[in-house]
Amino acid sequence: VSPEFQSMLDAHELLSKFYHHLLVNTKDGQHALEYLLKRGFTRESIDKFQIGYSLNSWDFVYKFLTKREFSPELMEKAGLIIKRERDGTYFDRFRDRIMFPIFDRNGNCIAFSGRSLGAEEPKYLNSPETAIFNKSKILYNFHLAKPSIRKLQQAVLFEGFADVIAADKSGVENGIATMGTSLTEEHITLIRQNTQSITICFDSDKAGIEAAYRAGNMLMDAGCTIKVAMMSDGLDPDEYIKKNGPEKFRNEVIGASHTWMAFKFLYFRRGKNLQIEGERLAYIETILKEISKLTKAVEKDHYLRQLASEFSISLDALQQQLKQIFFTEK
Ligand code: UTP
Ligand code: MN
Ligand code: MN
Ligand code: MN
Ligand code: MN
Repeated sequence: VSPEFQSMLDAHELLSKFYHHLLVNTKDGQHALEYLLKRGFTRESIDKFQIGYSLNSWDFVYKFLTKREFSPELMEKAGLIIKRERDGTYFDRFRDRIMFPIFDRNGNCIAFSGRSLGAEEPKYLNSPETAIFNKSKILYNFHLAKPSIRKLQQAVLFEGFADVIAADKSGVENGIATMGTSLTEEHITLIRQNTQSITICFDSDKAGIEAAYRAGNMLMDAGCTIKVAMMSDGLDPDEYIKKNGPEKFRNEVIGASHTWMAFKFLYFRRGKNLQIEGERLAYIETILKEISKLTKAVEKDHYLRQLASEFSISLDALQQQLKQIFFTEK
């Protein structure tokens, strides 16, 4: 690593420790700590994930790092401060936010995401792409989750910080997160080096379900075995755990996650009224197309029977139509 690269890592490490100190030990951080505790974050999680607080100041980071002989140019390149066009002076990127340090696979802090305490937008402010931080290659919590992922031969993929942390507190330690962006091929490569079995546990709102469908298709194409966990009432995992507790999360969400095909049965019927004949037939056609993509005869048969029994159609008719799809799609 180049000296500049190392220097950026050093700045992040120093700052992450200080942010954490500000949150847990100081009066300035008290309201932020209270916010977290009220949301259900435990002191143990706050330590484990090194959560911190950035002061409500325009130049705290600038001064803090200048005193330790980091140059403004370096701090700017690292995404920690921003240059004013007007006069070339600098101001801190993160102010009055809950700070989630983001670590690389070796446990180096390489970026931050700061959550606003109020209604301030954006909800999460992230470090920009830098020489040390490339969002499409980083999965949140990968460094801590890796041993558990390898041991269980299973990874659980979440959307966000609070989800990973609430799951961890609930005994699900193999959780990682895309941090809201779409899953990339680089993410998949990283996961695949450790396990081929992934449970997608995205938010159960519309955006989360769409993202789960996209991520699922990518993971299937990469040869993974996947399951999709879903929560009632459009909740996200963190909200679900707060409302229903860790046991229910483990048993009724993670433990009861759907196979990829079962998820698609649900996915394609959303927003449809299957009482209406036309919509029902279109749905059956869509599912038959999905079944036609399956390679295992036993699986094909299983889902055909499921479809036959749900819609009171003869297995024979479904098999005939499946053959037609086979010839028209090829
Ligand atoms: P969500 O909108 O689902 O937020 O975004 P959340 O994780 O449930 O946040 P809380 O519980 O209200 O604190 C999922 C993830 O997308 C990224 C974050 O990583 C977030 O955890 N995100 C979201 C951003 O980077 N910026 C944003 O403004 C919002
Ligand atoms: Mn601590
Ligand atoms: Mn979401
Ligand atoms: Mn969410
Ligand atoms: Mn949430």
